[in-house]
Amino acid sequence: MRKPIIAGNWKMNKTADEALTFIDEVKNNIPANSAVDSVVGSPALFLQGLAEATKGTELKISAQNCYFENAGAFTGENSPAAIADLGVQYVIIGHSERREFFHETDEDVNKKAKAIIANGMTPIVCCGETLEQREAGETEDWIKGQVENALDGLTEEQVANLVVAYEPIWAIGTGKSSSATDADETCFVVRKTIADKFGADTANKVRIQYGGSVKPENIKEYMAQENIDGALVGGASLEPKSFLALLEAVK
Ligand code: G3P
Repeated sequence: MRKPIIAGNWKMNKTADEALTFIDEVKNNIPANSAVDSVVGSPALFLQGLAEATKGTELKISAQNCYFENAGAFTGENSPAAIADLGVQYVIIGHSERREFFHETDEDVNKKAKAIIANGMTPIVCCGETLEQREAGETEDWIKGQVENALDGLTEEQVANLVVAYEPIWAIGTGKSSSATDADETCFVVRKTIADKFGADTANKVRIQYGGSVKPENIKEYMAQENIDGALVGGASLEPKSFLALLEAVK
């Protein structure tokens, strides 16, 4: 049985005060005996405060990016070692916005995944196709390639413990979510790719999220699918009420 995982991705939103207010409102209201892993992906600036504020609670904190070296002359970057030292447990990597606006490549994602794991954190590895690729029937090959490249060189155990987020780019922030069955079909492609490369046992353990216009109103449909174990949520994770409603819907 795979434990569901709901992760908010705040992207470049909130001030430090707003971030802490959110956490104060949410951390003690996580559904009791929660059968779901609850994660908030914050801008790097607030990670320290949020990790401190959530210590000992069920709410876990994620970074939205990191570099793949632990130290050195890389102006403006944040090392996985420093992020882990704050008590942060997850790092989102390979988000389509980072690939598009900051030129993050599959090779970067692979190096980052290795560095995050080496520092004791869990990568949330994003993949997803454009609308053009979907309409051209290229989704399966594209996703397969992204997943193979991102996970290359990892052990079966490392892959079993990480999270893959499938986010069709055309469904991000558009209000135009993928149908639950289409999302499940592509999440199956992710699982099958992992099965072919790392074995069926690993593929059965790895958690796969769907992301793209997920809201409290539609999350149940996704969670009812065989290959979907959670959601990576942007817009609907920004308000405590809506984030808690996502968790309530899944518990
Ligand atoms: O990483 C989550 C994201 O890209 C989806 O955003 O706003 O469509 O839920 P949104």
